[in-house]
Amino acid sequence: MDHFLLHQGVMHAEDVPLPLLAEAVGTPFYCYSSATMRRHVQVFRAALHGLGDPLVAFAVKANPNLAVLATLGREGCGADVVSEGEMRRALAAGIPASRIIFSGVGKTRHEMRAALEAGIFQLNVESAEELEILSEVAAGMGRDAPVALRINPDVDAATNPKIATGGGEVKFGIPAHRIAAVWARAEALPGIRPLGLAIHIGSQLGSLAPLEAAFARLGGLLAELRGAGHRVERVDLGGGLGIPYDPAVPPPPEPALYGALVRRMTAGWDVALAFEPGRLIVGNAGVLVARVILVKEGQARRFVVLDAAMNDLIRPTLYGVYHDIRAVVPRPGTMVATFVGPVCETGDTFAEDRPTTPLAPGDLVALMTAGAYGATMASSYNSRPLVAEVLVDGDRFAVVRPRQTLDELIAQDRLAPWLAAPAEGAA
Ligand code: LLP
Repeated sequence: MDHFLLHQGVMHAEDVPLPLLAEAVGTPFYCYSSATMRRHVQVFRAALHGLGDPLVAFAVKANPNLAVLATLGREGCGADVVSEGEMRRALAAGIPASRIIFSGVGKTRHEMRAALEAGIFQLNVESAEELEILSEVAAGMGRDAPVALRINPDVDAATNPKIATGGGEVKFGIPAHRIAAVWARAEALPGIRPLGLAIHIGSQLGSLAPLEAAFARLGGLLAELRGAGHRVERVDLGGGLGIPYDPAVPPPPEPALYGALVRRMTAGWDVALAFEPGRLIVGNAGVLVARVILVKEGQARRFVVLDAAMNDLIRPTLYGVYHDIRAVVPRPGTMVATFVGPVCETGDTFAEDRPTTPLAPGDLVALMTAGAYGATMASSYNSRPLVAEVLVDGDRFAVVRPRQTLDELIAQDRLAPWLAAPAEGAA
């Protein structure tokens, strides 16, 4: 459920009409709904009832805007981060270090040091090799690193292969059969405090079956470790639950079903649980609003050319996925259109041969469900500045990221010294 609904024929974000925002900030822009984000946190927490008070560590990569993080922080969320930049953002947004988990296959020594200095809750270690480096860094600082070992459960997450992370031959996690040895090594190493196990098998999961298989694997390892006399206090079950994008596709399982699965699979584990949802919290809390530049009649197709492009929202181009596109002020009737942006690549296509309400130049459209992996994956390809981001809360709104100006964009480059002066012989 979201808060982008038509009131008297005009799409609003909560109580704010989107055309008003377009006037205020220009187009394209991302718009986020606070109420939707809060609701999703509440729904997720409610789904996890009976599991103690688990840490809900929002996966910052899904939407790292400071205002989004601050909104979620106030709902009690922690953060799952994968770089020093994400960690700094979470801290800057007021999320305490004691609720931050640092994941990722390639943390640098510098990042490990920063995480330990900040005093974060946990580092999820993804290889035996990484454990050795972390030990050196932590011991060198006279600290003990709180560690969870991320297992690779070797299950097929049945999602887009580009975002599946739990199969045997991907870079993520430690193969299950090596976990016992790596745990024993972790106990022996200076500067390492092994506390738990972690798992994350992929994103936009449309079924619970792969999660069930992965949790079963994890439960087996937990028993094995404890059988060998090790103390395991924490389990981080990752993120990955999918959300609806395409009304024609059956929706992924509801959070309540996910919660029931977790309760069933973790019964008797006696651990403190953590979760790392990203998309579920912010996915349909955001839209990308764009204006129709022109409607072009091709040989066999009608193209609606928007002022947003693949650089602003790359998911359709990169993963071939569906985003609903709706007129902000829909007219009666229908037409079929291929929605494209101005970037010079055929792949700059948001939707092909899509039925829509009639659209004309100047109209506003909303690309729905763009709150997760939208603005954060944007680039300035074709020297298109990063777009504005706006946060709505009831009838209030704030620009939480101003549109990048062309001057700012160009000023990021420097001329090499030998290019700063006019070329010799030049007029
Ligand atoms: N935890 C870890 C360790 C992750 O790698 C991820 C996502 C998450 C949690 C959050 O997963 P979520 O709950 O959002 O599914 N750019 C892609 C998605 C990449 C996901 C990467 N890892 C997309 O646009 O679909």
